Amino acid sequence: MSIQRIILFHFCFCLILTPSVKSLDTLGDSKPGCPDKCGDISIPYPFGITSEGGGEGCSIAGYGVDCDFSYDPPKPFIATTRLQILSISETEIRVANRIAKLCFNRNGDVVLNESVVYMSVGRTPFTFSNTKNRNTLIGCRSSANYYVDQEDGKYSTSCISSCESRKKVVEGSCGGFGCCQFSIPKGIKSFKITVEMSTDVPNFLSYSPCSYAFMGEYEQITFAESDLLAVPEDRDIPAVLDWANKNRNSIAQAVSLRSRDNQFEHLAKMIQPIPISQNY
Ligand SMILES: *[C@@H]1O[C@H](CO)[C@@H](O)[C@H](O)[C@H]1NC(C)=O
Repeated sequence: MSIQRIILFHFCFCLILTPSVKSLDTLGDSKPGCPDKCGDISIPYPFGITSEGGGEGCSIAGYGVDCDFSYDPPKPFIATTRLQILSISETEIRVANRIAKLCFNRNGDVVLNESVVYMSVGRTPFTFSNTKNRNTLIGCRSSANYYVDQEDGKYSTSCISSCESRKKVVEGSCGGFGCCQFSIPKGIKSFKITVEMSTDVPNFLSYSPCSYAFMGEYEQITFAESDLLAVPEDRDIPAVLDWANKNRNSIAQAVSLRSRDNQFEHLAKMIQPIPISQNY
């Protein structure tokens, strides 16, 4: 056996014994035998539907998805939270947001008070993305307070939006006039947002009756004056979760093992047509 032949043989042998840890680019399929969609939303492995037709084995631990068939089409939720999944990408999950809202009529009476919201992924392996999300408040004479529990302690931050006159509202800019924004630390798993509005000078309520605040994907926010008039739906600006930060290698290996059977087929096809004896 020539050296080349030994090397080639050895190379193939290695590949078969230890399926290469593929990158997460292989994401896209569910585990064979498991449902690959909940309603319109694709659920790629290592995620898997653990209710209604899927088994526990359809996901790796912590990546189970509840598919709620009481909606038409059915909606997927992260198991153990009631956060609705909008999409799953290579490293991120986009979930429907929770928006803190406070609205007044022109007399200064409260007409909507959902001014306190919580979001938590505490019982999951996920964290809120600090690169994609920012805390955003939209409104006038308002403040938003953010309370976060982190491993190294609690902290709170707030931002204030003025706009004493309508002219001061700057479209496209979130710099404190009608809109304020700030970034979040890495690794957050839960937070609380509260919104307050001062209505002692209620003339601004005609062009800004509501204030609202959320942690969400900042690239989807281009502040316009019309934002002061309408509160968005929870799903308009998603919150982004990182799902692959921790355990990246073990996840990649799990994804690779899922497709091991395919790799064997692929390798078998690759190996067969190589006429080893003609390589030299
Ligand atoms: C809205 O509700 C919260 C929580 O119940 C309360 O603390 C707050 O004072 C209310 N805000 C207004 C403006 O009524």
